[in-house]
Parts: sequence; C-alpha cells; structure tokens
Amino acid sequence: MKYFTQFESKELGQELIDLALVYKANPLLDQLKGQGKRVGCIFLNPSLRTRVSTQIAAQNLGMEAIVLNMDKEGWALEMQEGAIMNKGTVEHIKDAAGVLGSYFDILAIRAFPSLTNKEEDMTDFIFGQFIKYSGIPVVSLESATRHPLQSLADQITIQEHLSGKRKPKVVLTWGPHIKSIPHAVANSFAEWSLGMGHDLTITHPEGYELHESFTKGATIEYDQAKALQDADFVYVKNWSAFIDYGKILCTDDRWMLTENHFRNAPEGKVMHCLPVRRNLELSDEILDGSRSLVQKQAENRIYAAQAVLSKILG
Ligand code: CP
Repeated sequence: MKYFTQFESKELGQELIDLALVYKANPLLDQLKGQGKRVGCIFLNPSLRTRVSTQIAAQNLGMEAIVLNMDKEGWALEMQEGAIMNKGTVEHIKDAAGVLGSYFDILAIRAFPSLTNKEEDMTDFIFGQFIKYSGIPVVSLESATRHPLQSLADQITIQEHLSGKRKPKVVLTWGPHIKSIPHAVANSFAEWSLGMGHDLTITHPEGYELHESFTKGATIEYDQAKALQDADFVYVKNWSAFIDYGKILCTDDRWMLTENHFRNAPEGKVMHCLPVRRNLELSDEILDGSRSLVQKQAENRIYAAQAVLSKILG
C-alpha cells in the first residue's frame, strides 16, 4: 500500500480493522518495524486527535513522527501551476513537497476544503499536489473530501460493538451548527459504511444532500424520526450544503439528538468524530450517557493510524 486516502475494498478495510484490533491488544507488538523511518505530519489546519494519535501510532511502531503546523509555522504555499508569485505566497508546493519527500519515508497531510471553490475541493487539489510532488507514500489526515483514518477508527468501533449483529442498521444524521463545515467526515463515513456492507440510512434537512458518489446504495430519509427507527449506530455530524456549496441552510435545533429521539431505537449507540459543539450539535445527555461511543472512537484513532502506517511499511 502506497497511499491511504480513501476506501479501497472491503477486503482491505477488514484487514486494517483486524490489524488495528491486534495492535489495540498489544500496541508494542511491532515496536521495531519502523525503526530508522520518519513520518512527516503536515497540518494545514488545526487538529487534536489526528495529530496526537498519529504521533503515538508512529511511536508504537518505532518510527519518528515530526509534526509541521504549516498554517502557523511554514511558509505561505503557492498551489497554482505557473503562478507569478508576486503576492502573499512565499514557496511553491512543488518545491515544498519535493523537499518534504526527501526528508521523510511517509508523508501524512491534513488539507481542508475552501468551501468556496467546489471544483478544486472535489478534486482534492491541494492534496493531489502533495502526492504529485513528494514522490513518497501519502496518508490522508483529512482532505477536502474524505477523512479515512477517522472512518477506519469508526468502523473498528462499530465492529467492537456489534453484539452479534451481522448487518447493523447504521444512521448518519445531520446535526445543527453555526459554522460552514466540510463534508469530508460525512462523505467518508458513508463511503466506508457502505463499503463494509452496512445497512446505511442518511438523514438531513432538504438541501443538504451529499455527493452521490459517496452515498450510492444508502437510503436517504428526510424524516429524522423515521430514519432513527431501530437504529443500532447513529453517527452525528454537521456538514454545509453541497449543492448550494458551503452554505448554511438550516439551524433547526430539533435535529440535535436528545434521549427523546431514541424512543424507537432503545439500543442505539451514538457516534461523533469530535470535536463537537455541545448542546448545539449534540446534547450533553447523549454525550455523557451510556449510548455514547465518542471516547472509544477517539481512542481507536491510534490503532487505525498504527495499522495504516504498518501496512505502508510492509
Ligand atoms: N476527529 C478529528 O479528526 O479530530 P481532530 O480534528 O482534533 O484531529
């Protein structure tokens, strides 16, 4: 495996889940595997979980992880081919990525979408530039369109809580927010849930349809109560409109889950990638109650990253 940027196949997904669970039981099993190797973790945007869990994962494999907060510490990057750099940008991506490619064995990158340039975001343009010019294996720490390490951790968490069910009912529900939020987590969760063979229902207000390349095969249900009926796993996430790109069309707080929403899904577990805005996106009573799997998801980020780095190391 050279790139980990999206869901590839059910076989690879299951292999990574199984390997992650082996590492969870014995984190230092392969502590010499990455000795003498370096992973560069390049952040163009903020992070808590992704940054720390990837560092721990690398450390568990004996690798050195070097973090560069490019948004705060690096030179302002020029992304456009042929640009005359007489404005704010200082270094071209082709020079920066080439240098980073010579410093590291694996490059891990976080690059959020603009939410204003739909075409550039949809093609993961910035991410593609790093892949093109670094020449080394690349791991996504969240791109404009996907967050595969989060999705792998989510699938590990679902597998751990299946309680014997072979085909759980999984619901992805939109939750309210005051900011314009990327689609990456929702896209990726849908892509991985469908890819791993789950029965997926997606519920959101009208106008919040995700791109069909991520949701083909899912049931789209605009009535949240109907969608939640008999749910085994409910994944809460806000995203901005995709068709009316980056816009906030609804802030209706009736979409925020409380215990009341689980009348017809008594066993339903609740998931969220974090960070979460409490009592806006998701209520305290859910987050602090027994349904919540959010801390377990965050813990599993370590083993998801460890499995991926290990697979790339070979
Ligand atoms: N879930 C997640 O990616 O968290 P961070 O943004 O804190 O890394």
